[in-house]
Amino acid sequence: MGKEVHPMELDEREVSLIERTFVITGVALAIVFSLACLVILFWPSNGASAAEPAPHKFIGAEKCGACHKSDAKGNQLKQWQGSKHSHAYQTLATKEAKEVAEKAGVKGDPQKAPECLKCHVTAFGAAASLLGEKFKMSDGVQCEACHGAGGDYAKVPVMKDRKKAVENGMIIPDEKTCTRCHNESAPGFKGFDFKEMWKKVAHKKPAAPTAKEAPAKPAK
Ligand code: HEC
Ligand code: HEC
Ligand code: HEC
Ligand code: HEC
Repeated sequence: MGKEVHPMELDEREVSLIERTFVITGVALAIVFSLACLVILFWPSNGASAAEPAPHKFIGAEKCGACHKSDAKGNQLKQWQGSKHSHAYQTLATKEAKEVAEKAGVKGDPQKAPECLKCHVTAFGAAASLLGEKFKMSDGVQCEACHGAGGDYAKVPVMKDRKKAVENGMIIPDEKTCTRCHNESAPGFKGFDFKEMWKKVAHKKPAAPTAKEAPAKPAK
């Protein structure tokens, strides 16, 4: 700038005015630049943390079972207790499991091997702070392995409203839920037929004929 405007042609006041304008423009640019940096630095992380829901806590099958053990509503607790899923962790202590592990090249106790636990228990890899007091790894593949961690949805007013429950972490499981574990990466995998396999572990609320017949009763 100094090269283009000959200093001899300017008096003191003009020079100091140019200098001051230069300094003010510089300061203004610096402020704009730092603000832009701050926005760039904080915008995405703020955006992400606001959009990303906090992870839900795993409360354990016993807690779900407290409300889901009536025969009239399908006794999901009993169905699960009688299924192989509830024994999936114990299975890892068997002689058969040791053989499976050896074949798969997994060393040590299968009940401690991440290579096995990732499919034979619930919440594998979740932070300890997300495991509720009643949560037990020994419950194997329990409710929350398929329905999602229940810490925020397992309350009557939320549970009764499917939309609210889903918003609070409940999953309505489908075939894709199963194939997270029932897939080729399971040692000795022999295929997965969803229809057939669901029949073996289904725990639907029984269709309630009494509810449909009830309105007819007063006519009798
Ligand atoms: C405090 C009682 C309570 C607890 C605890 C509870 N539930 Fe429920 N749940 C209900 C009620 C009430 C319904 C509404 C349907 C009904 O009456 O059976 C329901 C419905 C459901 C449904 C059907 C949702 C739908 O829209 O199809 C699923 C799945 C379910 N619960 C899973 C669970 C799981 C998994 C847990 C544990 C993480 C759990 N519940 C804990 C009371 C409870
Ligand atoms: C978190 C992993 C996981 C998920 C998700 C899962 N399973 Fe399983 N499933 C297992 C494991 C592990 C076993 C073997 C348990 C044992 O025998 O100890 C098993 C066993 C079974 C069995 C017993 C097979 C037999 O020989 O009788 C059936 C049936 C089954 N699962 C069906 C399903 C269905 C249907 C779904 C989805 C709705 C599903 N599973 C989701 C891990 C899972
Ligand atoms: C990708 C998920 C997955 C991994 C990883 C996995 N398993 Fe399994 N495992 C399953 C499923 C699913 C079944 C049930 C298969 C069926 O019956 O169709 C099963 C069944 C078994 C069974 C037979 C149980 C029975 O009742 O017949 C044994 C034993 C077993 N697994 C041991 C292991 C060992 C040991 C490891 C680690 C080296 C391991 N699994 C890793 C998903 C897995
Ligand atoms: C292997 C995966 C799996 C496990 C484990 C599991 N569920 Fe489910 N559950 C399902 C599937 C799949 C459905 C059917 C979803 C649908 O299409 O409506 C279902 C449906 C339900 C329903 C709705 C029943 C109805 O007809 O209204 C309730 C309630 C429920 N489960 C509770 C439980 C509870 C409580 C546990 C643990 C004691 C549990 N589930 C364990 C997969 C699972």
